Amino acid sequence: MRTPIIAPSILAADFANLQKEIEMLNLSQADWIHLDIMDGLFVPNISFGMPVCKAIRKHAKKPLDFHLMIEKPERYVKEFKDLGASVISVHLEACPHLHRNIQQIKSLGCKAGVAINPHTAVSLLEPIIQEIDLVCLMSVNPGFGGQMFIESTFAKVKALKELIESKKAQTLIEVDGGVNSGNAKDLVQAGADVLVAGNFVFNAPNPHQVIEDLKQLA
Ligand code: DX5
Ligand code: ZN
Repeated sequence: MRTPIIAPSILAADFANLQKEIEMLNLSQADWIHLDIMDGLFVPNISFGMPVCKAIRKHAKKPLDFHLMIEKPERYVKEFKDLGASVISVHLEACPHLHRNIQQIKSLGCKAGVAINPHTAVSLLEPIIQEIDLVCLMSVNPGFGGQMFIESTFAKVKALKELIESKKAQTLIEVDGGVNSGNAKDLVQAGADVLVAGNFVFNAPNPHQVIEDLKQLA
């Protein structure tokens, strides 16, 4: 089976020891670092902003994967690019002019991602699937780490994989929320390319081992 890209979500890290946490990821088999940006409007929580991103960037040696859970993301996309973003994902539900958002992200030289909530149908991506580098399928309701994985995500991964193949697109499928050793293998089998994991990595006694296991499991 394919080896998934593992993107630990920094939201679950110990923020009082951020440098240590990033250095831990640098030395691990993690591929990307996932940054959850929440504005208290699109989602009912506020995570962290630019100064924290800047501090992360200073130490991170892996590509930064920004997940923007914010309204009007076009206001800040350039700033996130300047803060070292390799991937920037915006939410379909927050973007009435989604195609324009994608063009903006790509024009800055970043990979463009679109995230969709658990209730949002994969078929809504049909008109733009060839334009985007990644789809972030939310497997929990966005806003908080440490929630339970929503089982209907498996069917969405499969439907999305079919859509991508039918359109001969190269889009990566990322699954975000409640990922652990109990669902990682089935997710990759269903077609997932990128697994985001927050609490499962950072709350483990040996995060390096957990990251390695997530890669091997699949
Ligand atoms: C949820 C975030 C996720 C979250 C994942 O709104 O987008 O990235 O941090 O954390 P876990 O793996 O703990 O569900
Ligand atoms: Zn996320």
